[in-house]
Amino acid sequence: MPTALVTGANRGLGLEFVKQLNAQNWRVYACCRNPSDADSLLQLAQASGGKVSIHPLAVDNSSHTSQLAATLKGQPIDLLLNNAGIYSGRNGERFGTCSTEEWLKVFEINTIAPIRMAEAFVENVAISEFKTIACITSKMGSMGDNTSGGAYMYRSSKAALNMVVKSMALDLEPQGIKVALLHPGWVKTDMGGPNALISPQQSVAGMLKIILNLGWQDSGRFLAYDGKEIEW
Ligand SMILES: NC(=O)c1ccc[n+]([C@@H]2O[C@H](COP(=O)([O-])OP(=O)(O)OC[C@H]3O[C@@H](n4cnc5c(N)ncnc54)[C@H](OP(=O)(O)O)[C@@H]3O)[C@@H](O)[C@H]2O)c1
Repeated sequence: MPTALVTGANRGLGLEFVKQLNAQNWRVYACCRNPSDADSLLQLAQASGGKVSIHPLAVDNSSHTSQLAATLKGQPIDLLLNNAGIYSGRNGERFGTCSTEEWLKVFEINTIAPIRMAEAFVENVAISEFKTIACITSKMGSMGDNTSGGAYMYRSSKAALNMVVKSMALDLEPQGIKVALLHPGWVKTDMGGPNALISPQQSVAGMLKIILNLGWQDSGRFLAYDGKEIEW
């Protein structure tokens, strides 16, 4: 049975990834900051017959990451899915409004945590069959697509994540590891809001199709959930 590790698994796209992977008979390590508050995930885990387990993980807490890596040492992870992310505030990211402290926190979660997770679990991925890492980015990190400005912290954190993934794709290729970089679309989650264009089901179904069919030519490419390439 293939195995995935998903961050930010308690709501939004992360929860939907767990649902769809479970339905496709994957074993899932579902990670979230506060397992005791993760009611939907707890129900899913209880109904999964042991296939879904829940693990406490704040991705910006290095001792959580190393504790989980120690717990899972020697266990293959076919798909490491870096999904957790924050968009700190619709009105708070205008020119002149972004504090350095908050900006660094956004970078820590959106940009640095995905590579820290990859470093912590690279051996697990390398001993698996599928050998894939996926990082959820955003079209808001595209320079070419930026026609509206603003969103300084989020945009810059995702643009930087894109570069992190491009380098990881090159660096991990000798170990046989592919790295997917995916824009989920504008999705109806807490982050995307009610006016978003697509459902989590549609977004995750599209992203999983890409991930599960990822060729070497797609490792490190900037792709949307529908398979379209996005300009850097
Ligand atoms: N929705 C969209 O339209 C859209 C568009 C482009 C990109 N994305 C990206 O897609 C990913 C998922 O977004 P979403 O729409 O599902 O957002 P969401 O509904 O706001 O969920 C965010 C998830 O990330 C978790 N998270 C945040 N900070 C964390 C931390 N420090 N440690 C561990 N978990 C943390 C949250 O956990 P808590 O419940 O504990 O806060 C939650 O599970 C993000 O990377 C986001 O940037 C979303």
